[in-house]
Amino acid sequence: MRRKNNLKTQDLRLKTKLMKKTILSGIQPSGKLHIGNYFGAMRQHIRMQDEGDSFYFLANYHSLTSINNGEKLREFTTDVVLDYLALGLDPNRCTFFAQSDVPQTTELAWILGCLTPVSLMEKGVSYKDKVAQGLNPNIGLFTYPILQAADILIYHSHLVPVGEDQKQNIEICRDLAGKLNRAYDEELLIIPEEYIVKSVAIVPGIDGRKMSKSYDNTINIFDEGKSLKKRVMSIQTDSTALEDPKDPDTCNVFALIKLFADDEKKNEIAENYRAGGYGYGHAKKELLMLITDYFAEGREKRKELEKDMDYVHDVLREGGKKARQRAETVMEPIRSKTGLYRSFNA
Ligand code: ADP
Ligand code: TRP
Repeated sequence: MRRKNNLKTQDLRLKTKLMKKTILSGIQPSGKLHIGNYFGAMRQHIRMQDEGDSFYFLANYHSLTSINNGEKLREFTTDVVLDYLALGLDPNRCTFFAQSDVPQTTELAWILGCLTPVSLMEKGVSYKDKVAQGLNPNIGLFTYPILQAADILIYHSHLVPVGEDQKQNIEICRDLAGKLNRAYDEELLIIPEEYIVKSVAIVPGIDGRKMSKSYDNTINIFDEGKSLKKRVMSIQTDSTALEDPKDPDTCNVFALIKLFADDEKKNEIAENYRAGGYGYGHAKKELLMLITDYFAEGREKRKELEKDMDYVHDVLREGGKKARQRAETVMEPIRSKTGLYRSFNA
């Protein structure tokens, strides 16, 4: 009990009261981003960039848990940066950077790992899933939540906007921050809150399961032309005949239409479903048009950005510099408190 009362919280509380709230989130560059990623994560990131001191990053260390090919990782990283910038993330209004530009993250992850019971990691949903599938997960995947906790805690983040599937990782993060504070008897880390985005349900893939790159059922944000058409036309539907009425609420095509259409359009299409004489092929064509229109501006912007990769690298360089500076202010007292010897300054 002595410990609790003794925590040196006052300074830190005052500092954080004066600071703007820090909002942080990340996404793995492990493949082309799809519309599930957009509605489940990216759109919120882009919308929230003015609501605090926002940090958004590419979780490329996390990607190493599944990608062991440097060329691929570089390619996916560039893709994700271009996607975010094209869709409206503005580096003047937030700090946008690559996780690997902040070595303090892995430094903190090690320290947190030394306070983490193995049994806590064994409860990790993603790890358990892999084991249940008979796979042999690597240690990186096993300790993934520790690295994610470090990502969040190293900037003294207050709010972490994530999808429902990330809830457990945020709880682990809060737990680990508390463990470190208690172990060293000082509030060295801020305990963040999650911000689960409830407005978007899980976006279904073309086979009706959760859209995910691991199921190869995605429609990528910047798919276009023939490949977009092919994906949309292969969305699975039931076998109700064209002339029969259909239920929009049980249809994968309509579930996607709902994300892109305004209310008027949604109602019009739902009525067509119920009236009969409207086939899934018609609905797919409408969806194809909606997707094409929705991302049209982003698609143009992305093409422009591709021509100016120097600018894109500058964005990450500047973002990385800002993120490192913040991370160092959090890491320094931790190094000192844990008794880690260092003969140089970063
Ligand atoms: P994937 O399943 O394709 O590997 P990730 O696990 O990398 O996608 O997810 C990155 C982010 O996108 C997470 O915040 C997650 O909540 C969100 N997300 C991924 N797929 C979907 C989906 N089908 N519906 C809603 N959100 C999703
Ligand atoms: N695990 C997250 C995902 O798969 C990515 C991520 C890594 C993250 N570190 C984070 C998200 C820190 C929020 C905060 O989507």
